[in-house]
Amino acid sequence: MKLHERCQKVSGITRHLRDAGIYPYFRPINRSWGTEVEVAGKRLVMIGSNDYLGLAHDARVKEAAAQAIFRMGTGPGGSRFLSGNMVLHQTLEERLAAFVGKKRAVLHVTGFSTNLGALGCLLTPSDYVLCDRENHASIFAGLGGTKKMGTFVHNDAGSAARKIASEMAKPDFDGQVLLITEGIFSMSGDVAVMDELAGLKKQFPDLLVYLDDAHGLGVLGPNGRGTAEHFGVTAQTDFIMGTFSKAFASIGGFIASDHVDVLEYIQHQSRTQIFSAALPAASATAALTCIDILEAEPERVTRLHSITARMRKAYNEMGLRITQSLSPIIPITIGSDEKAFMFAQELFDRGIFALPAIYPAVPRGQALIRTACMSTHEDRQLDFVLEVMDEMARKYRIRIQDQDEVAAEEEAAAGQASTIAGARSSQSLL
Ligand SMILES: Cc1ncc(COP(=O)(O)O)c(C=O)c1O
Repeated sequence: MKLHERCQKVSGITRHLRDAGIYPYFRPINRSWGTEVEVAGKRLVMIGSNDYLGLAHDARVKEAAAQAIFRMGTGPGGSRFLSGNMVLHQTLEERLAAFVGKKRAVLHVTGFSTNLGALGCLLTPSDYVLCDRENHASIFAGLGGTKKMGTFVHNDAGSAARKIASEMAKPDFDGQVLLITEGIFSMSGDVAVMDELAGLKKQFPDLLVYLDDAHGLGVLGPNGRGTAEHFGVTAQTDFIMGTFSKAFASIGGFIASDHVDVLEYIQHQSRTQIFSAALPAASATAALTCIDILEAEPERVTRLHSITARMRKAYNEMGLRITQSLSPIIPITIGSDEKAFMFAQELFDRGIFALPAIYPAVPRGQALIRTACMSTHEDRQLDFVLEVMDEMARKYRIRIQDQDEVAAEEEAAAGQASTIAGARSSQSLL
């Protein structure tokens, strides 16, 4: 298919959704107060942010970032390799390594570029990479050129073990096996069975374990030290990758490990490290200040968990279909994509900012609204969200008790696939 035909398919869908008044993405936020935002002159409760600890609006973080600009300027002036390296970067790397319990860390400008750069340079053609099926796009992007790659059933250590055993049993196998998982999965909010996955090293001593803890950092473990620490398997987790774009209220990413030679290699071979500008001082300082705050104020993490428990309990009592885990990401299953778009639009109209995830980000027919708690959410905001959700759950018949009835109706209507779904089936953006 020619480029313009492919593009027209996507633009046709977005136009259709815009014309129908239900296009939910790329909403331009005019102002943010953290737990509330202003969009098109309307103030909304934010229940879809990854700023889990609400630190993006902490006065200390903002002040430190502003001071860093006065000291170092707004841009880094080059790659770290050449003219952009700062004492600040090195300090941050040392603090990050200590925070996650590793010997060394290497920064990148985003989490995406960390996975892209690190994974892109680590593997040779004889190595085998095994990914959880639901791993983030940045992981698969980093593995783009990898020759031998497999996936295991989501969060199933048994499935991973079988794949590793069968790969290693091949007579010509002489490489390394790298298992990659997320700590908290970004869409489902599932917490990885990190104890079982890291435990596979008992069975396969040469196995290397790579944890993308983008959503676990600042959220799980003592003082928010992450998923490996939560399960007590930091030593068995060879690489811990993290990002500042979630609980660390900034932008930037890092990879930490006790394999210091490997990190030295990544520092010099990661293309997104060498051929990209360094992390600006304001972003690095914001992340550094978040570590200070996390170490001093563990109650922020505790509050996040109590808010999460309260919201999960309320959603369960309402009869909503949610995944059960410890994580502040609470996706609410809606059903068809169209219904999820309409649901998100009505949430918006009623003063709540939360976005839908549709196929292919989630399986067909299981579109969801991804909600996320922040430790700075106030009770009145949460009460408001729950009141609206309760009313809308009845109206849209998304409660578990409604779903058999709805499924039967949908079956009766089968075959009358909507133009939106039909147009979308062959592309991957929407
Ligand atoms: C699991 C996971 N890894 C990596 C990334 C990329 O991080 P960043 O936003 O810092 O580029 C994300 C961001 O959504 C993520 O969810």
